[in-house]
Amino acid sequence: MSRAGTSAVRMYKSSVGVPDENRQAIVALLNARLADSVDLRSQVKWAHWNVKGMHFIQLHELFDSVAAHLEDQTDTIAERLVALGGVANGNNPRSRSEERIERSRLNCRGRASQLKWLVHNVAHHADALRTAVKEAGDLGDDITVDVFTTITRELDKDLWFLEAHLQA
Ligand SMILES: [Fe+2]
Repeated sequence: MSRAGTSAVRMYKSSVGVPDENRQAIVALLNARLADSVDLRSQVKWAHWNVKGMHFIQLHELFDSVAAHLEDQTDTIAERLVALGGVANGNNPRSRSEERIERSRLNCRGRASQLKWLVHNVAHHADALRTAVKEAGDLGDDITVDVFTTITRELDKDLWFLEAHLQA
């Protein structure tokens, strides 16, 4: 995995048993996923507030449910990395060079375009977590693998709920 951004990162002593030589890289991995989780939660809330149209209440409530899941997931990721001795800053060292969460549609209008935008971003976040499952495994941290796996499974279900609205 990329270890960019893992140098000069403040760490606290932690007795949680992960390979010490990988601790900083695991924390960086968690912080990168934390950044996307925080971003995505605020975007889904934006959709919850601004949805219009005939399906208003259905989508208003669905978006709020997805946002609530993201809030719990964000907390789980942050607390895992703090338990490992890290500082939860939601910093994603790859965010400047790689397209991740798409922000350009914050002014999008209409049910279908809002849903397509959210489906894109939830899928992107879930896929990054799927990759992180493998990376955490390679770093010898099975518990973070479990955290990422559980969150990916939850996101895949929310993705289904969102995407079904776009299918005939
Ligand atoms: Fe609300």
